[in-house]
Amino acid sequence: MIILGLETSCDETAAAIVQHCPTADNPYAAKVLAENVYSQFDEHACYGGVVPEIASRAHAERLPAIVQKTLTDAALNINDIDAIAATTGPGLVGALLMGTTFGKTLALTADKPFLSTNHIEGHALTALLTEEHLRPPFMLLLVSGGHCQLVHVRAVGDYVTLGATLDDAIGECFDKVGKLLNFTHPAAPKVEIAAAKGDAAQVQLPLPKTAEPLDFSFSGLKTAVRTVLDKGDKNDADFINNVAAAFQQRAAQSLAQKTAAALKEVGNMPLVVSGGVAVNKEIRAALQTVSDTAGVPFYAPPLKLCADNAVMIAYTACLRAHFGEVKNDLDAKVRPRWPLEEMGL
Ligand code: KG4
Ligand code: ZN
Repeated sequence: MIILGLETSCDETAAAIVQHCPTADNPYAAKVLAENVYSQFDEHACYGGVVPEIASRAHAERLPAIVQKTLTDAALNINDIDAIAATTGPGLVGALLMGTTFGKTLALTADKPFLSTNHIEGHALTALLTEEHLRPPFMLLLVSGGHCQLVHVRAVGDYVTLGATLDDAIGECFDKVGKLLNFTHPAAPKVEIAAAKGDAAQVQLPLPKTAEPLDFSFSGLKTAVRTVLDKGDKNDADFINNVAAAFQQRAAQSLAQKTAAALKEVGNMPLVVSGGVAVNKEIRAALQTVSDTAGVPFYAPPLKLCADNAVMIAYTACLRAHFGEVKNDLDAKVRPRWPLEEMGL
């Protein structure tokens, strides 16, 4: 099966072509034939964050060229594709509508099935593409701009959410703290760069606490950063770097603490981290320590597949077609919210 995937749930316009190549040993094996991602950083930079209307327009402008380029890169034409998948949720409604409408139109005109695909499931399954020895069940820590959750991935289509954020997603928190530190959009990677130059021990910040041990909460940590900044000199680069380091350390500790507790509760199994925040080296290192302590393997997808991309969408559609059936979802609506529990095959 060869699937063209489209991703437009937020500020990345992406297309990819993935070929599922299942074997008796590995039903998850697949090849990426081509992939392209356009990140709309420049479009949103002067607003300090993603503006939904601008994101939608940028998707509409970029999609035709990006899809054409992806087909050309794979040396294929639309007739070589077996199905077209697009992210239909969760995400920004206007942005989702662009990829979904484009995908449905392409599917109708080329007479191919349209596969409605869940963005979070894409993040959840990506590691199966890149890690030859990984098999479900595994523990997933999904850390992105819109989500922060611990998920027990029992099989493709079978997910149990063990805990989620009560307020901000961790990526959202990195973005907001980056803004407080006066970094330009996208601010989160700049927090990591500043943190590498700082000394966390110079700034006291609280470790987030929640009533349920597997839930997350980051808004208190963000407020604590604001309070510390108000008392210090924002023009002092060392101070800014120290605050970034202390924030990142607390964020990593909190994620590690909850992940360790989830492994304890559900039983030891491989640990997978995924989503845009999974590029963060301190967070990866903290999770590596959690898995070493529990004696379980740790997998993190390559950096470019952690952030939003269309490979994960095409790949998820391949796996759902393989383990379930190919349903033509031409009547699928876009969904701002779409919990993994509703993804049963
Ligand atoms: O998965 P993703 O590309 O989009 C969503 O589905 O949300 O994740 C984007 C998030 C952004 O919120 C950004 O703050 C975060 O990933 N991020 C980072 C870093 N680079 C991007 N967070 C921490 N450290 C980074 N270096
Ligand atoms: Zn994402």
